[in-house]
Amino acid sequence: MTAPGTIAEALDGAARSLAEAGIGEPRMEARLLAGHALRVDPAVVLGHPERALTRIERTRLAVLVRRRARREPIAQLFGEREFWSLKFKVTADVLTPRPDSETVVEAALAGVPDRGAPLRLLDLGTGTGCLLLALLSELEGAQGLGVDISPAAVKVARANAAALGFADRATFRTGDWGRGIRGPFDLIVANPPYIPSSAVESLEPEVARFEPRRALSGGVDGLDCYRRLVPDVARLLKPGATAVVEVGAGQAARVSAILAGHGLHPVAIQADLSGIERCLIATPHVD
Ligand SMILES: C[S@@+](CC[C@H](N)C(=O)[O-])C[C@H]1O[C@@H](n2cnc3c(N)ncnc32)[C@H](O)[C@@H]1O
Repeated sequence: MTAPGTIAEALDGAARSLAEAGIGEPRMEARLLAGHALRVDPAVVLGHPERALTRIERTRLAVLVRRRARREPIAQLFGEREFWSLKFKVTADVLTPRPDSETVVEAALAGVPDRGAPLRLLDLGTGTGCLLLALLSELEGAQGLGVDISPAAVKVARANAAALGFADRATFRTGDWGRGIRGPFDLIVANPPYIPSSAVESLEPEVARFEPRRALSGGVDGLDCYRRLVPDVARLLKPGATAVVEVGAGQAARVSAILAGHGLHPVAIQADLSGIERCLIATPHVD
């Protein structure tokens, strides 16, 4: 990219570099990156094409464009992503929260009759903490525990809890699913890695190269983590309480069978906004 003078020139150069790197919407992304480099809303960038960039703005934009052209995800470049209208810190150690996972939050909330009740929540494979913290934002009397195998992810989740003002109601620990945890819990959520290991490499470069493998790969058939965590869910859930588990496209029936095999009766399947069966709601079977 040549050193651009005005915003219009900078956008042209950035969009060209991004297009050459195979980015789908290069002009739109060029605006986003320019907005970030100039510390202004992308709309402001569009409205002032004649404005000259300062040297520091030019440098910041050039770095962002170079990293994005290597297909580094925008959330990691900006260090944050919105989920459930809350801002989450994102690093290379955590999965970027996906809009599809808001289905888990919606389904979990739908099963809570009293949003002020002193509920105990558990989030297995917490990552950024997005599921647990979104739930705490809606359930004022609740306390929650988030668990992740990755100490670096736990650190990010703790930072998010503090930044969002939930540090007094959210605890995080490093661990292997529910091992060593004592229940019972009123609500358990989990979004485990569920991509079949052979499919990870063929995901888009932003995911395959930059998101943690441990957050993606679910073993040969994608279901290893469900087999490992469902017995913990069954042990830790209060009688009559609910578990909400995210699943990959086409996995609902097989994960339902795993839940049922451990005495968890799948009561509903919730689709995401694209109509894909995205999460299972299950409750302990009562004889
Ligand atoms: C698909 S990500 C979900 C992250 C977050 N809950 C979300 O919805 O965005 C799965 C998470 O499970 C964690 N994980 C993988 N294996 C685990 C294990 N054995 N015990 C606990 N967490 C695990 C990963 O580190 C990753 O943060």
